[in-house]
Amino acid sequence: MLKRIRRALGIDTRQSEYTFQRDPRFGHIATARVADTWVKTTCGYCSVGCGMLVGVKDNKAVTVRGNPDHPVNLGKLCPKGLSEHHILNAPGRAKQPLLRKDGKLVPVSWDEALTVMLEKISAVQQKYGSDSLGVISTGQLVTEEFYTLGKLIQLGFGSRNYDGNTTLCMASAVSGYKLTFGSDGPPGSYADMETADLILLIGANIADNHPILCQRIERNRQCNQNSTVIVVDPRVTKTAMMADIHLPIKPRGDIALLNGIAHILIRDGLIDRDYIHQHTTGFEEFASFVADFTPQHVAEVTGLSEETIVNTAHLYGKAKAAFIGWTMGVNHSTQGAATVTAINNLALITGNIGRAGAAPFSITGQCNAMGSRETSFTTALPGYRKFEKAQDREDLARIWNIDADRIPTSRGLAYPDIIEAAVAGKVKALWFIATNPAVSFPNYALLKQALESVDFLIVQDGFHPTPTSEFADLVLPAAIWGEKEGTYTNSERRVSKVNPVVTPPGLARSDFDIFLDIAQRLGVRDELFPNWQTTHDAFKEWQRVSAGRMCDYSNFTWQQLEDEGGAQWGGDRLYADGIFPTATGKAVLYSVPCLPFVEQPNEEYNFIFNTGRTVEHWHTRTKTAEVEMLDSMVPNAWLEMNPIDAAKLELRPHDRVNVLSRRSTVRNIELRITGIVAPGQVFMPFHFAETNSNLVTLGAFDPISREPNFKQCAVRVEKYFKTLK
Ligand code: SF4
Ligand code: MOS
Repeated sequence: MLKRIRRALGIDTRQSEYTFQRDPRFGHIATARVADTWVKTTCGYCSVGCGMLVGVKDNKAVTVRGNPDHPVNLGKLCPKGLSEHHILNAPGRAKQPLLRKDGKLVPVSWDEALTVMLEKISAVQQKYGSDSLGVISTGQLVTEEFYTLGKLIQLGFGSRNYDGNTTLCMASAVSGYKLTFGSDGPPGSYADMETADLILLIGANIADNHPILCQRIERNRQCNQNSTVIVVDPRVTKTAMMADIHLPIKPRGDIALLNGIAHILIRDGLIDRDYIHQHTTGFEEFASFVADFTPQHVAEVTGLSEETIVNTAHLYGKAKAAFIGWTMGVNHSTQGAATVTAINNLALITGNIGRAGAAPFSITGQCNAMGSRETSFTTALPGYRKFEKAQDREDLARIWNIDADRIPTSRGLAYPDIIEAAVAGKVKALWFIATNPAVSFPNYALLKQALESVDFLIVQDGFHPTPTSEFADLVLPAAIWGEKEGTYTNSERRVSKVNPVVTPPGLARSDFDIFLDIAQRLGVRDELFPNWQTTHDAFKEWQRVSAGRMCDYSNFTWQQLEDEGGAQWGGDRLYADGIFPTATGKAVLYSVPCLPFVEQPNEEYNFIFNTGRTVEHWHTRTKTAEVEMLDSMVPNAWLEMNPIDAAKLELRPHDRVNVLSRRSTVRNIELRITGIVAPGQVFMPFHFAETNSNLVTLGAFDPISREPNFKQCAVRVEKYFKTLK
């Protein structure tokens, strides 16, 4: 796109590399923002993974542009990407280690900070055992740092109780892939969204959460007159407004709909019997299971008409290439992993996998949640290896030159279980890295109890204070995107290069340097990280660890990644040969019952409460609240309510209201009366600490993935009255 403009303006797109901004025909640009150099990197917000160029002047990031040559975004960026340079050097950055003394966080040296940290962890582990250290990381680090951290926690500290905030986000996708296909790994590519005849988005509001993916749909429409876009969502989201067909499904109606589509496909002969026979197991049982999911039954559960359900099934079954994309509407559920297998079922019984345009496809959240899935030592061993498999442990032990007995034979506690163990007094030291659970974890009351119960709480973050770091005994200031070198993997398995633009502020250090320093003090640096100085040393070892695995990094270098706009491990798509990494080589069809969500509305709590995001903000706003442009666009949260309900409650637009659940109350939030939500449902964005949706959300978790059920709980809404102090 930019290339086209540049060519139209007569600018040589090859020779004038990235200097076009100075061209007077682009209008006046304040000289303070005219960059001396442009640094190629990858956006550090969401998992779309847009390539960008950061303009630097005098060691300051002054501007950002989309990289016109990057295959993911072809020069475009969303509002967050376009303003990302503002988070470097923002006033809220953490610049100094802080240690709590006499109840107050006071500045200390790195030496004192890490000496105390190791003393405290050692004391706790000696008294309560190695697993009394709990660690929660993130999707924000570079892959090389995840790889390093995993070794440090599991082999250095010897604690298994290590997980990522990614469990709040896409653990259900990971579990669902493992169940169906025998391994994690999103099978498709963004390019499939351009070529599919049918795009079915379930619980995926990409217009707000993955905005640059919307251009794939636009391109699909330009090239393919007969394609259809169907969006399944209880809300009329911005994405639903882009759809040809919106299915305003009742909350948690997704499994019934998916089973109902399978029922109709089988009934009407729209399945691929050869594919089923050669590449799947469990079809007979599955077919008899979905026999009960008649259009009539599914219509009752989903609130959709029988005609709509049949039409959707026929569109899916008759498409030459059908794509199903999903995000949090599916994952954020006590039945998340099961729902993912139900999505995979549809792809398998119609052979819509491993071909151009045909894939079941989870869209991730954070910029490098995928990198953490590949390398980290949390729910799996690095390189998608299994704790349970002796061969996998032996392979790693050989590469690492350690005794295989040191590698645990099962995973430790998942994130919510670490929090519960902290409340129960079993986890005694907690270390959070680049995450803000005081806003993002469900049921704040329990989380707060955990933060207050542990003997020692370490918060390592690029920002301070955050609602979480305020509880800390020790704050470690970390470098962030724009200050570090390494790689990120996006949702389509594309590994892209991330480059430093400026040096970190104050005494902040890269997470990598912090980990190595800790390893040194722990006495494990030479053994676990021999001669490592930079993240490139970690990359080189990770190349060996991943070699021959599905997520194989051994055949590209950092330089190639930078020059070529990244590389997709596994190629364009996985499973083109129909061979799956299960015991039989075949994918498994699961029969998934449709259970009602845990906390149903009643007379007292009569609304179903739904949470989600808005395009201007990122997760808990540690970053985007620092960007004036974004924050002034959306400075506070709101509650969406249907006009019918508002009339019953005699509420008017922009009234202030309270939202009450059995847990707690969100006070004094702006009411928006809108048809975006259906009667009986309310919606609120989860970004805001000031009006924290997780005061009211439910601490209920998927039994398989341990992902929270953020999307449905029961609340009531009351008018807010100012109380006199
Ligand atoms: Fe960054 Fe995602 Fe926006 Fe792209 S779509 S610019 S990766 S936040
Ligand atoms: Mo997620 S927000 O992909 O961890």
